[in-house]
Amino acid sequence: MIFKIKHVAIYFGLALLVTPAISHGGASGPTLERMNAMSNVQKTLKQLRPALSDPSSNKAEIDAAFVELRTLGDHLPKLFQEKHMMDMSEALPKIWSSPEAFADEIEFYNLQIDKAEAAVGGDPKLMMQEIAKTCQSCHTQFREKKK
Ligand code: HEC
Repeated sequence: MIFKIKHVAIYFGLALLVTPAISHGGASGPTLERMNAMSNVQKTLKQLRPALSDPSSNKAEIDAAFVELRTLGDHLPKLFQEKHMMDMSEALPKIWSSPEAFADEIEFYNLQIDKAEAAVGGDPKLMMQEIAKTCQSCHTQFREKKK
């Protein structure tokens, strides 16, 4: 019986360790960190869109979403500091061979987030487009098309 309980505990322990890695194709370390950061911000955007239709009732949620979007902007240089797991990562080598172009892209991101936040209360569709523009602009240049 004791053996069995231990076995179950080990099984669950392993499952917990393995599950998040599997959802990102076995990535770990800096690669997993940036994949998680990107996935989280995508979830944030999905919640932000409906919240923007009624900004006065959803002020706390909208503020929290912008804090997250800004945090991504602040973390982008660090998240992509290391060229890592290039077989698994969708990050293109150009990030490290053209660091100025990548830094410009991060700056563009921060500007677009400022612009979107300043426009809270306006047309939600236009705001989401301003944000999507910068996600796409960076992905087009620096993210590999799906393998
Ligand atoms: C400065 C460049 C840059 C910006 C800005 C950027 N991304 Fe990314 N994004 C990347 C790169 C590079 C990858 C590939 C990372 C990897 O696989 O190591 C990526 C990956 C992703 C992924 C896939 C993560 C995974 O699970 O593998 C999602 C989702 C994503 N980005 C969403 C967004 C959204 C939404 C925004 C805008 C709010 C955004 N990104 C802004 C560069 C950027």
